[in-house]
Order: sequence, then structure tokens, then C-alpha cells
Amino acid sequence: MSVIKTHYDNMPDGREVFLYTIENSNGVQAGIITRGATLNSFVCPDRNGVMGDIIVGFDNILGHINSGTYTGEIIGQYANRIGGAGFTLSGKKYNVTANEKGITCLHGGSEYSSALWKAIIVDDDAVEFSYHSPDGEQGFPGNVDVRVTYVLTDRNELEIHYEAVPDRETVINLTNHAYFNLGTTKNGSILDHELMLNCDYFTPTDENSIPTGEIRAVEGTAFDFREFKKIGRDIDGDDVQLRQCRGYDHNFCVNGEAGTLRLVAKVRDEKSGRKLEVLSDLPGVQLYTGNFMDGEPGKDGIGLDKNFGFCLETQYYPDTPNRPEFPQCTFKKGEKFKSLTIFKV
Ligand code: BGC
Repeated sequence: MSVIKTHYDNMPDGREVFLYTIENSNGVQAGIITRGATLNSFVCPDRNGVMGDIIVGFDNILGHINSGTYTGEIIGQYANRIGGAGFTLSGKKYNVTANEKGITCLHGGSEYSSALWKAIIVDDDAVEFSYHSPDGEQGFPGNVDVRVTYVLTDRNELEIHYEAVPDRETVINLTNHAYFNLGTTKNGSILDHELMLNCDYFTPTDENSIPTGEIRAVEGTAFDFREFKKIGRDIDGDDVQLRQCRGYDHNFCVNGEAGTLRLVAKVRDEKSGRKLEVLSDLPGVQLYTGNFMDGEPGKDGIGLDKNFGFCLETQYYPDTPNRPEFPQCTFKKGEKFKSLTIFKV
């Protein structure tokens, strides 16, 4: 096991961005850069032992900055959407950044994901990243101290441990927004990858991707991934839920008890033989199939076209602060948000 720190690139204002590469005894490597505590690479073998990077992303900092896709970044303070870009806590209304169509808040704005995080190597298999979000940032109440620790085990598990403590009542929903392509982007779209989701229900959305409040059974719909199914099999169907998002861009309710680590998803790519397993203690997961990728150049200059990556963003459900019937993510002063998500190859 080892962790190596190297210079990655400079921000346009000259600040240095560092890359931490964790390698396990199987030669599997995870690379994380300090801007956005971004998972920048995850290198693992295909069925013939050929190493490949399954994270869709960029070769340099400008690629990350110019892209609006949150690729591999840590998202906060509220991953996913808040309807009306506002919510009420203890009788007080808070307006947060309305960065999507001027009406909804997507991924809490971009402070967490574009900040340079502090990093320390905490073990020969672990790096801890920290960020202080000041009171009122993007409209969210409270100073919040955030710590995200990446650990790569010899069982090829990339663990992402999240901790955040506010000094006032606030909402916290943190995720990692990695786009995966098990064949690497050289092999194009992920529509032939097979996906299994441990989810009997999903949360349908309105035309602004805000949950309607319905918790709908996946049974008999294009959203049924309870058995392995090609991501692309039903994606072009006429379900209005698919049409309004140009594919899958929905929160699924993970079976089992939130707060307990359990299986979220399994993905396999027949062509490369690579597999991915996702576990988490969070109540939901966003399946996003890269519907708005528009050909921007990614690593090695390869154009990142529609469906060149998929995301499995473990999360509280979207718009939870306005949906008292959803599992809640309001944290009081000093109360810790603590969560674990594992990506195993
Ligand atoms: C959202 C998509 C959005 C993407 C941005 C996903 O989490 O659900 O609608 O386009 O993030 O990168």
C-alpha cells in the first residue's frame, strides 16, 4: 500500500493543485485531486489484467473548471436539487443559490466542488480532505466543517467516508459525482453495461427534476433494475419520466435500512470484464446516465459524448428539506453528518 503526493496542475490564479495517488497491493490505484476533493482516476484491471482508468474526467485543471458536469467532485452542501431554491428551518426561510434555470438549486452551487481542499495523508492507504464552508455560503445556514476520507483497501474497495459538523441547524447532503465507464471512455457509451439496483422504488420528478412526492414501485417500468439489465435497454422508451430527462436522471430508494451499510448497485461490462459494486448507508442513489454530456474533450482528448459515463450518486433524496415525508437530512448545531459509500472493483 502506498500514497504518493504529486503536483497535478495550477489554478488559473496560480494556486497549486495536488494529486494524491493511493495504490494497493494489487496495483489498483485511486487518484484524488485537491480541487473539489475530486476522484480523478480509478485504475483497475480488465479480464485480461490490462489496467484501465474507469473514471471519466479530464487531464488538466482547465478541463475540470470549464466543465459544468461535476465530474468526480465532492458535492455539497446539498447534493442534487432543492425545489424553488429555498426551504424553511425552525420557521425561518432560507434562499439558496438558484443556479439552474434561475429556479432550482443544483448541487448546492459549486463552492464545495470547486474549492481547493486541504489534504493530509492519514495512513498508507488513506487521504483525508477537509473544507470549511462559511455561514451563508450559497445561502446555506451555518459554518460547516467537512472531512472526506478516501481509503483504498486490498479488497479493491474505495471507501469514501464523509463527516460534516455544522455550528447551526442546517441541511447537509454530500456525495461524490464520479462518472464511471468500465470499458474506459476509449470504448464509448455505457449503454451496454449491465446494471443491477437494489431498489424497489424510485422518486418520479416534474419537468424541473424535482420529486413530485410520489414513491413509485419500479415493477413493470423502465426503472426496474432489480435484475441485471443493460442500461440502454429501455432508455429510449416513451415513459415521460425518461423523456423529460433524456434518459435516467432519477433518485432510487435503496432497499433496507438507511444508516446501515448495504448493497446499492452492481454494474458489469461484458466487453472488458470489469465490474463495480456500490455500497452505502444513505437512503437514496441518483442514477444519471450522462444525458447532458455534449462531446467536450476529456482525458486523452476523447470527446465525452452523451452516455459516455454513468453516475451512481449516493444521497438523501432530492428536495428533502421541502418533503417532510422523505428521510430527513437536517442537522442541528454540533450534530454530525456521517456516512460511508464504497466503490468496489
Ligand atoms: C443531475 C443531472 C445533472 C448532472 C450535472 C446530476 O446529478 O441529476 O441532472 O445534469 O448531475 O452534472
